[in-house]
Amino acid sequence: MNTVHIPASTPYDVQIGPGLLALLGAVIGETCPKATRCLLVTDDAAGPLWAPKALESLEKTGLAAAVYTLPHGEASKTADSLVKLLNSAASEHFTRSDVFLALGGGMVGDLTGFAAACYMRGVAYIQLPTTLLAAIDSSVGGKTAVDLPAGKNLMGAFWQPRAVLCDTDTLSTLPAADFLSGCAEVIKTAILFDPELFAQLEREGADFDRPALIARCVAHKRDIVAEDERDTGRRALLNLGHTLGHTVEAQSDFALTHGQAVAIGTAVVCRAAAKYGFCAPEVPARVDALLEKFGLPTHTDYPLDGLMERMLSDKKRAGGTVSVIVPEAIGRCAIRPMDRAALHDFMKAGL
Ligand code: GLY
Repeated sequence: MNTVHIPASTPYDVQIGPGLLALLGAVIGETCPKATRCLLVTDDAAGPLWAPKALESLEKTGLAAAVYTLPHGEASKTADSLVKLLNSAASEHFTRSDVFLALGGGMVGDLTGFAAACYMRGVAYIQLPTTLLAAIDSSVGGKTAVDLPAGKNLMGAFWQPRAVLCDTDTLSTLPAADFLSGCAEVIKTAILFDPELFAQLEREGADFDRPALIARCVAHKRDIVAEDERDTGRRALLNLGHTLGHTVEAQSDFALTHGQAVAIGTAVVCRAAAKYGFCAPEVPARVDALLEKFGLPTHTDYPLDGLMERMLSDKKRAGGTVSVIVPEAIGRCAIRPMDRAALHDFMKAGL
């Protein structure tokens, strides 16, 4: 088992390895000692496969549980779903000392974390990621949210989990498209911080040691969260590829997975950065080739004019500018604020 300690305002451990759902009851005992009941939130993809394992562990340690299942997919990450979940917790008489459990991918983790932040002004929750994307990114760092019609994650809170238990067995049942979606975030992490990881992915493709790779990506995220938990500075780097990515994801009505959208967004900013002389031409060439090796898209046909308004409503906007993450080399990126005209020209250069 790999353990990464996250030194956030409320610190916790991320444990990564096979068979870890069997330890869930014990982890709750250590991290939420007053809890007697758990609200296990999951979706109809992960729940049937993995909720029984989690419930078995809870039962063995004498913890009572109620299960709340959502339809899978980003369409469930709404304010309406949040209120329904909170009403369910209230009608089941969950108390402030009980614990919410998020068993699933990013949608389940973000929604459950936000529900935990809101219910009775804040209850404990534990992340149980079952997708690669959730394991390496969204389950760690305490960003919780639901989407609003105007954009992704526009309603949310920083609320750190008590623990993250990443049972890598759950990745074995992940559909190939969802696994590849997570690989886009792995590639993003390598472009941001880790040239050796990038070279390893070029050599080995998706044939990597999953627990070791997840621990390596989580360690990079730990460093960022330790430095900038509330996302007022360097944490913005984690948005590489997301300004355009969130926009094409929404424009496609979520027909593009988050990872496919981030792949397009990342490829576009790399090509634009090379055209502007911010990085060597080798950078977009290697990034496009690696994304393609993983079966991820690198281009979009959506016209730029139709994408501009949504990009400008992104929450990475401050005043009249949007912070765009611009590669300088494989393993090093910079945050560049751009106004509307600069953003338009930059994206045009990469599309
Ligand atoms: N997923 C981006 C962040 O945690 O800041």
